[in-house]
Amino acid sequence: MRIWAIYGPVAAPYPETMTEHLLLGQTLHFTGDPFVAPWDHVARHDSAGAVLIRDGKIAAIGTAAQLRAAHPAVEVTDYGRALISAGFVDAHVHYPQTAIIASWGKRLIDWLNSYTFPEEMRFADPAYAAQVAARYCDLTLAQGTTSFCTYATIHPGSVDAIFAAAQARGQRVWAGKTCMDRNAPEGLRDSVQSAYDDSAALLARWHGVDRLSYVITPRFAPTSTPEQLAALGALWVQHPDCLMQTHLSEQTDEIAWVHDLFPQARDYLDTYEAQGLLREGAVYGHAIHLTARERARLAEAGASLVHCPTSNTFIGSGLFDMGLAARMRVGLATDTGGGSSFSMLRTMAAAYEVAQLRGQPLHPAQLWWLATQGSARALRAEHLIGNLAPGMEADLVVIDLAATPAIAQRAARAEGFWDALFPTIMMGDDRAVRAVWVAGGLRPGAQG
Ligand code: GUN
Ligand code: ZN
Repeated sequence: MRIWAIYGPVAAPYPETMTEHLLLGQTLHFTGDPFVAPWDHVARHDSAGAVLIRDGKIAAIGTAAQLRAAHPAVEVTDYGRALISAGFVDAHVHYPQTAIIASWGKRLIDWLNSYTFPEEMRFADPAYAAQVAARYCDLTLAQGTTSFCTYATIHPGSVDAIFAAAQARGQRVWAGKTCMDRNAPEGLRDSVQSAYDDSAALLARWHGVDRLSYVITPRFAPTSTPEQLAALGALWVQHPDCLMQTHLSEQTDEIAWVHDLFPQARDYLDTYEAQGLLREGAVYGHAIHLTARERARLAEAGASLVHCPTSNTFIGSGLFDMGLAARMRVGLATDTGGGSSFSMLRTMAAAYEVAQLRGQPLHPAQLWWLATQGSARALRAEHLIGNLAPGMEADLVVIDLAATPAIAQRAARAEGFWDALFPTIMMGDDRAVRAVWVAGGLRPGAQG
């Protein structure tokens, strides 16, 4: 997959979708939530499995023997001992931060001011936005990420750029214009009215087009006045099927700042709740330092949380409580470029390590579920993506479980499938990604 970049997007948005194709290999899918039910009741592994793709969707899953016998004439790709899974779903990213990933030495607010805001300023140029959007899609597809939910910048053109790039590749993607009307530099602030108008226009242009969805996106309470939050809450009332994404309780000094900026608010969550920005379809990134009231209200409202473990250690934010996954929708994300990797395998590894520090070891089935169905569920798209099941969109990743000498020698010792998968979770990266299928089409650069 390392030669990916030279291919770029294919010309047609849905390559090969009208064909039927049978993929053979090990398969993994879920029949339930491994944070609610015992993982071994809901995670289904087949060592000689098969996935039948037809017209961009999964038509059937089963054993290789069953599906070969039922479809003798179909074109077959045999991936041998490689693992066929739903493609990874990255539930919280900032594609405009692609070029500043791994910037040294700052905590959240200083990191935003030193690295992020100057870079986001460059997205006033549509050509730059298009260049980074294309780069982001190609980098992450090479990691097996078939869907993502991204913040753009305040510039409407930055939303057009990422939707156009995703559309050209046939991907299911969520994106929104980041709204900020205070505490951001000149050139990176909108207003109450322009945030509303630009968001409404982008929503009208893109929401529901192909596999694209608009997300209403106030960056976070410190950079929006209560009036701007209220305007976006009003927009959400008019478009209740949209998601709304923002950040919540990421760092303690950020929370203290929110307290100063919103003295009347009960807590951080209340700054959103008071303006109509808490209900089903609300997707909060980080959510580390929550009060008991916030936890209870988030669960009651049916909101989603997104765990961003590489970011939370890289920026020094704290350790997410994975115990929340039993009470509400929790997804997993890289949070590029606060996060230090584009890889959902690296992100699963970080989630494991963060949970270990909290005394909550996560099973490989739970980690895999978070990166696929859990993230899809956080984005309220669990019926479309993030699992292998008939009728779901055929976004697939094929994973080599012996991609490097270090992984191969450990996997050779494995006792059973989960023990063989875990070294790839902990030590894998894009070298483990053997092929990627998007909407039933094999991405160029894959080995087949
Ligand atoms: N809080 C507000 N904006 C951001 C951002 O861009 N990244 C992270 N990690 N946290 C934020
Ligand atoms: Zn973020």
